[in-house]
Amino acid sequence: MKYAASRLAVVQPSASMAVSGMAKALTDEGHDVIDLGLGEPDFDTPAHIVEAAHAAALAGKTRYEPTGGAPELKQAIARKLARENDLTYAPDEIIVSNGAKQVIYNALMATLDPGEEVMHCAPYFDIYKTITLVLGGVPKILSCSAADGFRLTPEALEQAIGESTRWLLLNSPSNPAGATYDKAQLAALGEVLARHPQVFVLADEIYEHIIFDDQPFTSFATACPDLRDRTLTVNGVSKAFAMTGWRIGYGAGPRELINAMTTVQSQVTSGACAIAQAAAAAALDGPQDDVRRFREAFERRRNLVVAEAEKIPGLTLAPPGGAFYTFIGCEEFIGATAHDGTVIEDDIGFAKYLLNEGKVAAVPGSAYGLSPFIRFSTATSDEKLSQAMTRMADCLSKLTTSPSRN
Ligand SMILES: Cc1ncc(COP(=O)(O)O)c(C=O)c1O
Repeated sequence: MKYAASRLAVVQPSASMAVSGMAKALTDEGHDVIDLGLGEPDFDTPAHIVEAAHAAALAGKTRYEPTGGAPELKQAIARKLARENDLTYAPDEIIVSNGAKQVIYNALMATLDPGEEVMHCAPYFDIYKTITLVLGGVPKILSCSAADGFRLTPEALEQAIGESTRWLLLNSPSNPAGATYDKAQLAALGEVLARHPQVFVLADEIYEHIIFDDQPFTSFATACPDLRDRTLTVNGVSKAFAMTGWRIGYGAGPRELINAMTTVQSQVTSGACAIAQAAAAAALDGPQDDVRRFREAFERRRNLVVAEAEKIPGLTLAPPGGAFYTFIGCEEFIGATAHDGTVIEDDIGFAKYLLNEGKVAAVPGSAYGLSPFIRFSTATSDEKLSQAMTRMADCLSKLTTSPSRN
């Protein structure tokens, strides 16, 4: 029996979920594993948001909402965009979906023809490339170096754009490297894009509120107002409000694009959960103290992991400016030998060694298109992070590295 269509050949299970699956299997065998694989806040959704959901359910918000989003939530999103990003969007220029992931899928599904190119800044959020491939698009990988803070440069962008390039996917602060772009850096990319009117920009700003060192956040659409008619801003409540399980994301962009995306959604899932939409409106309109509290915790944890990683000989890192990941270079350990004779061939081998020997689960950089690196999610307690770093230092010190390193 054929259980999978040929198009599924390009779809791998999400790397972070695969790592967490391995961690769980070891835990079930009785091992004490620290899972730094998954990217979700370890905080509870703030009580006032949960209460708003409860009230909405009791008030009968239990039926289908319009496909593109509940009017109350769209208005709350329009207010948020005006208040925080200085952007003006009407409700019919906004779509609400089942998480930012579905917004991204809808956008590419609605616009990408087979053979057209999508530019991904490596290291990239892995679903970007998978969706591109499933839709018959051609991923164009733009490698961003640690020396450039894992940011795309205008020169690299100019070189990469061709006649059939349809999208640039930009993510700030980024998963997995925590790369952030300031207003001038976004404007410089915008200047290049202005010369190539065939290219849409998807600005994934889901980590907007998790930004460190007092950096102001700038939305791509704010920095590049001239590109408004081909910019889709993607955001959601998952990360900022600790609402990953509520599955609410949104996009704001030109009306025609939003209409096409809504058509896609109408034939796949219809609108997002009515109760979760009421909760998301309460999150956006309500007090923002928890958002600040979460950000402070993530910054403290970033500092902790960076300080510990810097003490471990052989690791390299460009400290992340935002999000809740630390992307650590492990090139020095490629070719190293473990006590059982296993040679670490690549960052997948490095992640396996860390898991089996140190009982720390983390995702290899190759899952995000840049090697050799390892991604640590810092969305876990300070105690667990400290413990994980000690375990890592310990198990790496047991490796026999090649003569070039000694
Ligand atoms: C860069 C990026 N965009 C989007 C998402 C998806 O967010 P949501 O939970 O809203 O689907 C994630 C989640 O890991 C992410 O890292």
